[in-house]
Amino acid sequence: MSTLAQPVSGSTPMQTTAAPAPRSLPNATLREAYQAMTPGSAALAGQARTLLPSGLTHDSRHFDPYPLYVARAQGAMKWDVDGNRYVDYFGGHGALILGHAHPAVMQAVHAALDQGTHFGACHEREVRWAELISRMVPSAERVRFTSSGTEATLMALRLARAFTGRGKLVRFRGHFHGWNDHMTSGHTDHFDGSATTGVLDGVSDAVLLCDPNDEAGITRLFEQHKDIAAVILEPTGANFGKMPIRPAYLQLLRDLTTASGALLVFDEVVTGFRVAPGGAQQAFGITPDLTTLAKIVAGGLPGGAVAGHKEILDWLDFADTRAKGREKIAHPGTFNANPISAAAGIATLEILSTTDACARANAFAATLRERLNEVLEEEGVAWAVHGSFSGLHVFTNPEGATIRPSAFDAHDAIPAMLRARRGAGLAGQVRMGLLVNGVDVNSGPSGLVSAMHGEEEMALTVEAFRATIRALKREGSI
Ligand SMILES: Cc1ncc(COP(=O)(O)O)c(C=O)c1O
Repeated sequence: MSTLAQPVSGSTPMQTTAAPAPRSLPNATLREAYQAMTPGSAALAGQARTLLPSGLTHDSRHFDPYPLYVARAQGAMKWDVDGNRYVDYFGGHGALILGHAHPAVMQAVHAALDQGTHFGACHEREVRWAELISRMVPSAERVRFTSSGTEATLMALRLARAFTGRGKLVRFRGHFHGWNDHMTSGHTDHFDGSATTGVLDGVSDAVLLCDPNDEAGITRLFEQHKDIAAVILEPTGANFGKMPIRPAYLQLLRDLTTASGALLVFDEVVTGFRVAPGGAQQAFGITPDLTTLAKIVAGGLPGGAVAGHKEILDWLDFADTRAKGREKIAHPGTFNANPISAAAGIATLEILSTTDACARANAFAATLRERLNEVLEEEGVAWAVHGSFSGLHVFTNPEGATIRPSAFDAHDAIPAMLRARRGAGLAGQVRMGLLVNGVDVNSGPSGLVSAMHGEEEMALTVEAFRATIRALKREGSI
């Protein structure tokens, strides 16, 4: 029998006209149970498909038979349009280390809203925001705000090319840096580096792909190519540590880039202000030349930034470029350092820099990974829940390797993960099982923990995971 997500004591009831979800559906499959509990989402998805490609606004929300439509969220929980409550591990795509609608952030946003949404002018909050970033992130001598992480990685590459006078970018298979033209191949496909749909061959030719942790491969690239402008990577590994990077490899990258005059770019769009107040560079003690930021930096609102050494960011500086006879890199952007995003960012960073919020999220995730692996071992399933810091990833062992969940080393599984298509097969079924049982993870299936996750969320998640495993067994999927 499938147990459906149901309101838990203490939850705030949803104001909705939709019929309440059934509490259980004897003999229902997970898919039937999902459909029975989410009629409001089904209706909205049907309407959306007549207006939006696939009915979507972000590829990773693609979900068969239709995605969940969420009405509101608070702390570590969110409620869908049908009134079902979920423990949330989607975490605003990683933007929410303080959980949903944190009171201090909400208060700051409301105060900023009352003063106007866009001044078309410089404002005090952008100075305070940059000051906090500069104080917290070791490499952030200068900061330039963008509207997203995609824009931040685009600008990082442009800065690196201007600064080094070189053209090539080194990236790692599986790593994600947004959707600008140089960052598309080799994330979930095109591992040979060929251009993805709509991208010029000339662009993909300027990108060199390497396997994560491949020491010989990266050393060879630097021997063969003297025109490498930058190496960019997610410093805890692809998809927030789903394919972990060894810290020693980060040091090798630091050494190789320094020796060759290329720039090392840490894409800390997810890890920044999450793994530690100063990001992965603080946690690992390795300082990159440039850092890209988004998500948490803007406290759950749209925003991003590129930060780094003054002499690199000086390529954006009017006076400095004029004095040096250089052509400045142009950088407009209507919503750069928008005052509302700045207010949310400041409130969030002030909390992160003065409390143990990052450490609490990390500790919760470590315990949850352990507890979920106990479930797998009790249920005799050769999967693993792994990750680092506040991340968790369910490895569904697509190639049937012999593994013990609690002793799983994700480094060994990276080739298998690169071969498997993200979100395909069992991954989607795990996500559906968890949704039916009141937990939302992303399509990895992976989750991001906030500082608001506590004992209640832990217990609900462990039971939802156990119920999901048992349902998948009943359905013959595992
Ligand atoms: C590591 C990383 N870099 C860059 C991006 C792109 O950021 P945005 O979605 O704000 O464009 C993301 C988004 O998920 C990301 O995870």
